[in-house]
Amino acid sequence: MHKKGFIFDLDGVIVDTAKYHFLAWKNLAKSLGFDFTEEQNEQLKGVSRVDSLKKILAWGNTSVSEDKFQELMTLKNTEYLSYIDKMDDSEILVDVPRVLDFLKAKDQGISLGSASKNARRILEKVQLLPKFDAIVDGNDVSKAKPNPEVFLIAAKAVNCKPEDCIVFEDSVAGVEAANLANMISIGIGSKDVLHEADYIFKDFSEISEAFITELINK
Ligand code: BG6
Ligand code: MG
Repeated sequence: MHKKGFIFDLDGVIVDTAKYHFLAWKNLAKSLGFDFTEEQNEQLKGVSRVDSLKKILAWGNTSVSEDKFQELMTLKNTEYLSYIDKMDDSEILVDVPRVLDFLKAKDQGISLGSASKNARRILEKVQLLPKFDAIVDGNDVSKAKPNPEVFLIAAKAVNCKPEDCIVFEDSVAGVEAANLANMISIGIGSKDVLHEADYIFKDFSEISEAFITELINK
């Protein structure tokens, strides 16, 4: 039994794939004749592919048939994967391996809790897959963040109670999901955006081993 469960979101926490999601969605919107802002994009972070497309179509006051909807999802993912397939371990965000290795050395549970259906492929590309005790991703859940389902499954996968888990998240939806799951939420990114998180850091370089040890012993 692990003492604590540390649950990592993927996109925007472990790797900077948020920029690739943004690019692919922006190009899709452009092909439909409209655009959306970086601020609107914050609302897409952590949100499933289906829900993201629904939001984008609403922003563009556009409605499409079910067939067209599926076609647009495929188009977006094909472009997104063309960026992903060029990734390597140089795209791992700063100090993520240091934190993962420290947690492993302290024998803590390490789970992925991501909305992405491409999570395994990305972790393989950046060679981080072996660092995780459990992977819970968009293929394992029926309810998208801010629903806490993904984190509750990720906690169970490392035999930890929700209140013994700590979540690293870059999205508003993900922080809300962690809070709803009764876990400690750590926002990675801007204080202006992630103010609902229990702690906020710009990136993992600001997360000290002393702070992690404190979380372990809480
Ligand atoms: C989340 C991203 O991690 O995964 C979202 O923040 C994305 O932007 C979602 O829409 C689903 O990802 P995918 O790879 O299954 O399209
Ligand atoms: Mg994210």
